[in-house]
Amino acid sequence: MNLKAAITGIHGYVPEDVMTNADLEKIVETNDEWITSRTGIKERRILKGEGKGTSVMAAEAVRGLLEKTNTDPNDIDLVIVATVTPDYMFPSTANLVCTQVGIPSICSFDILAACSGFIYALTTGAQFIESGRFKKVIVVGADKMSSIIDYTDRTTCVLFGDGAGAVLLEPTEGENGIIDFMLHSDGSGENHLIMKGGGSKYPASHDTIDKRYHYINQEGPQVFKFAVTNMANVAAAIMEKNNLKGEDVRWLVPHQANKRIIDATANRMGIGEDKVMVNIQKYGNTTAATIPLCLFDYQDQIKKGDNLILAAFGGGFTWGSVYVKWAI
Ligand code: UT7
Repeated sequence: MNLKAAITGIHGYVPEDVMTNADLEKIVETNDEWITSRTGIKERRILKGEGKGTSVMAAEAVRGLLEKTNTDPNDIDLVIVATVTPDYMFPSTANLVCTQVGIPSICSFDILAACSGFIYALTTGAQFIESGRFKKVIVVGADKMSSIIDYTDRTTCVLFGDGAGAVLLEPTEGENGIIDFMLHSDGSGENHLIMKGGGSKYPASHDTIDKRYHYINQEGPQVFKFAVTNMANVAAAIMEKNNLKGEDVRWLVPHQANKRIIDATANRMGIGEDKVMVNIQKYGNTTAATIPLCLFDYQDQIKKGDNLILAAFGGGFTWGSVYVKWAI
């Protein structure tokens, strides 16, 4: 018996509060023309309210997913949350989400792979299904990027937003499901994209706060160079490995960091704009949430049997691609 993991449900959540490019013009020296032409972003969502962490958005996405798929919380075997903005260093956000939505005492844990977090979590969850061990796995990508953004730094504050997306994975013996994946990492990218403070190397202190170590720090052009090459390469590589030509692919589901990186990836794959999921204009870069939020926004347009290539690049560095044949 050859078990595959299939995505059998998808749901997303973004907070109500919208931060537009015009709003940012009032905070830092920037303008709509620069942000739009360099990134493709028009607005992003911000989770407001004291004491609200990433788990609030992740739980909303999971609640919606359970309802939509008519799934009893008692039947869930595993919840994985990909995030770089957990509510706490510990306990894990996945533990908190389970309790918030009423999923009792199952295995749940977080995965940290920055902007590639969702595809790392998705492929991890798929292994538990393919082994026959678990029947229902929820994979979430969620980030409250506004909690680690320095709103005096125009080079990063215009890029990021908050959101969450969740998928249900179930076993199938059919031909559709998660077919293949390629995952990579390279820790020498450490200093190009990093939040230095709050870990064991630089625990919180007056000094780390003065040095702004608790904010995301990105060397944009350096990261761009790596991202544009590696995301395009890994998307092309998984196509080649699975004998897929541009015409065989129905959807590229790319991490939404920069419209120029998305375009370069599509070009490399030999596919036109009509096959590329893009919602960066509405949400900016929501880190682990970009890919599930794309699937959520485009769910009505995806058809059973469609070939999807998911591709991401992010801090670490981490990058990778997943080949999915849509199952619902
Ligand atoms: O998701 C995780 C992975 N992350 C990525 O993939 C992001 C990769 N990097 C990027 O997307 C791009 O590098 C950015 C969007 C971050 C920046 O775009 P860029 O075309 O690489 O611009 P740059 O950083 O080279 O800056 C060009 C100019 C600079 O001015 P000078 O030195 O040429 O006078 C910046 O100071 O634009 C200036 N600039 C801005 N101007 C207006 C930088 N940020 C802004 C801003 N508004 N917000």
